[in-house]
Amino acid sequence: MSGTLDVETLVGRLTLEEKASLCLGGDFWHTAAVERLGIPRIMMTDGPHGLRREPDDADDLALHRSLPATCFPTASALASSWDRDLVRTVGEALGREARSQGVAILLGPGVNIKRSPLCGRNFEYFSEDPMLSGELGGALVLGIQGQGVGASVKHYAVNNQETDRIRVSAEVDERALREIYLASFERVVTQARPWTVMCAYNRVNGTYASQNHWLLTEVLRNEWGFDGLVVSDWGAVVDRVAALAAGLDLEMPPNRGVSDALVTAAIRSGELDESVLDTAVARLLTVVDRAVSAAGADGDATADPETHHALARSVARDCAVLLKNDGGVLPLRPVPGETVAVIGEFARTPRFQGAGSSQVNPTRLDIALDELRALVPEGVTVTFAAGFGLDDDRRPPAPSPDGPAVPDEAAGQALLAEAVEVASRADHVVVFLGLPPSAESEGFDRRHLDLPPEQLALLRAVAEAHPRPVVVLANGSVVRVSGWERLAGALLETWLSGQAAGGAVADLLLGVASPSGRLAETIPLHLEDTPGFLTFPGEAGQVRYGEGLYVGYRGYDACRREVSYPFGHGLTYTTFGYDDLAVEVTGSHATGDLAVRLECTVTNTGDRAGREVVQAYVGDVAASVGRPVRELKAFTKVALDPGVSARVTFRLGSRDFSHWSVTAQDWVLEAGEFTLAVGASSRDLRLSTVVDLPAPAHRAPLEAESTLEEWLADPDGAAALREVFRDDRGAPAGLLADEELVALIGSFPMDRIASLFGTDLDRTALDALVRRVRAARAG
Ligand code: BGC
Repeated sequence: MSGTLDVETLVGRLTLEEKASLCLGGDFWHTAAVERLGIPRIMMTDGPHGLRREPDDADDLALHRSLPATCFPTASALASSWDRDLVRTVGEALGREARSQGVAILLGPGVNIKRSPLCGRNFEYFSEDPMLSGELGGALVLGIQGQGVGASVKHYAVNNQETDRIRVSAEVDERALREIYLASFERVVTQARPWTVMCAYNRVNGTYASQNHWLLTEVLRNEWGFDGLVVSDWGAVVDRVAALAAGLDLEMPPNRGVSDALVTAAIRSGELDESVLDTAVARLLTVVDRAVSAAGADGDATADPETHHALARSVARDCAVLLKNDGGVLPLRPVPGETVAVIGEFARTPRFQGAGSSQVNPTRLDIALDELRALVPEGVTVTFAAGFGLDDDRRPPAPSPDGPAVPDEAAGQALLAEAVEVASRADHVVVFLGLPPSAESEGFDRRHLDLPPEQLALLRAVAEAHPRPVVVLANGSVVRVSGWERLAGALLETWLSGQAAGGAVADLLLGVASPSGRLAETIPLHLEDTPGFLTFPGEAGQVRYGEGLYVGYRGYDACRREVSYPFGHGLTYTTFGYDDLAVEVTGSHATGDLAVRLECTVTNTGDRAGREVVQAYVGDVAASVGRPVRELKAFTKVALDPGVSARVTFRLGSRDFSHWSVTAQDWVLEAGEFTLAVGASSRDLRLSTVVDLPAPAHRAPLEAESTLEEWLADPDGAAALREVFRDDRGAPAGLLADEELVALIGSFPMDRIASLFGTDLDRTALDALVRRVRAARAG
């Protein structure tokens, strides 16, 4: 985008006060302007599954008064599409709407990892897997930015809970950070180049994300090459001067000028170099310039609400996950004269988005009940019973989901009795269940995974009247299905699928479209099984990520834990076969051009058209560090007519086989065997093979503090020790002659051995040995 602002000259002409003011919002949703120099303000607006642009007269956080905008499926639904093109198309629509409402930057997507299904904001996040989160988050960014609107990837980083979210310190080990929590951001930043990144509220290992130099500058800019603007989450700045020095450019929203004064004072006193402020101002002006140039590029942008509503419906169809479908109960095939009973308040009062800053005021709202009525063949009757009310709010966990039905109010009993009556007279029964709006939201976490007890009581009662009804779920984050899902003939998880969810569900139930979503997060059997259970959400201002990198399926697989439905799972109305796995390795890790090509044939073996999400997982057979059993490294979605096959190809590179090495402070590929598996879910792997990849050995530096074991495991170290501990004939002597002793003190650092055990090696000799090994390696 060609510049209309001469950034460099402007930075030179701005006064210190003006520069400080530019690094603070002008108001709640705008950057500051400097009229004297023709620097305009630009608008930022929440999203990311629709626009929450507040009216111009709003003077506060007008959560419920935003201008109408298309409400697309939220991220947990979008992620279940496993479809980059689809997500990009949504991004384009969001970009168009943003342009039409004068919005320069859309505050999203959120690519935080779903560490626990309890996180109240999981509906805004994509997945428990960083690759899937990064790919789909990146697709959304590309779509939005392709329309000349900036995206703001958030919340960087390690914002995985709402409990104490403004202060809590997420205590995470380096490998989990690199391989899981930063990896989703890294992918988006390096592949989609977002205009802005929003820093999180929380602390990361003790330091606020907003003033974390390592996160904001060393990793984000120096390693990943981010050249955009870092904006604070709203109110995330604690120490403005430290934040600026750490790399946080723009503080939002304005804090009554306090930060300006702090920044100018720090520069005048010499505490902060003015060049730091200049850099931040230049970044801000560059983004303003981009936005202004894009807005002027093709006149007034327009967005057609009807077209976007239709898009929202087709997107929602692609997001639903058919978890089970016993005996092919779905799609329903009602014939004239039959009755379809629709039960559950959600069929009439849809749950279609989450609460908080992402809440959209939809342009329209589809009601599943109406849509079903419109779509059934003539002569089919659709009846309805609410079954439960939506005024239950946050309830304590159900004592036992298998226990007796206990609706306690007379009203509840009446609703239940009506539903049973309606179900008993129907030929087909669909029950709409889900989480009430108050159960999950930005701002707090859930305390359990269960559906409200009155909904489960309803299902039990209905299933007695009409065995194995179809259950449609609407919830932003995973709910527990163990304990009751056996009552359902089919289970369709629709997540929070936006304003057209009702129409999309009707399409899927009646077979106008086939479900093609796959789980982007595991559905565990029990909350207690979740990898972070013991430490989520922490206490006393800290949350320890004790499960390390074993998040989601990585954790369930490592512990061989049964789950209700595994990561990647989802059925369609057809079936697929996998054949002819082929793998070809070219180049090498050492030369930096390793390419592993993985191919297989996928065939639609059923009698309906459908789409399959083909997933490729990699596992390191033997490693010097702990590694997950398998990790998602590639996926694609293919559409196939009955009987038709397609050859699917994946390309993997060095990074796909590497782990983050704490000693090397880099990604390291360890030579050896790797399993490559292709299939329909993380636990439905249809084809697999093993490749043997050569790689130069990564050797940790040998120091005086390295242990005896580490010295002996290293060829140079072992050779050097053998020189010291040998007899006249060259045989192992002293320490090395006694295997039992070596085993006993192997974990002692060499300097401790030198000082404690009075061996032939004193500290001076050890230091000489260290120098010798270093020289040997260097030479
Ligand atoms: C949320 C952000 C949001 C911002 C502005 C914050 O509380 O964490 O996601 O973009 O508010 O509404």
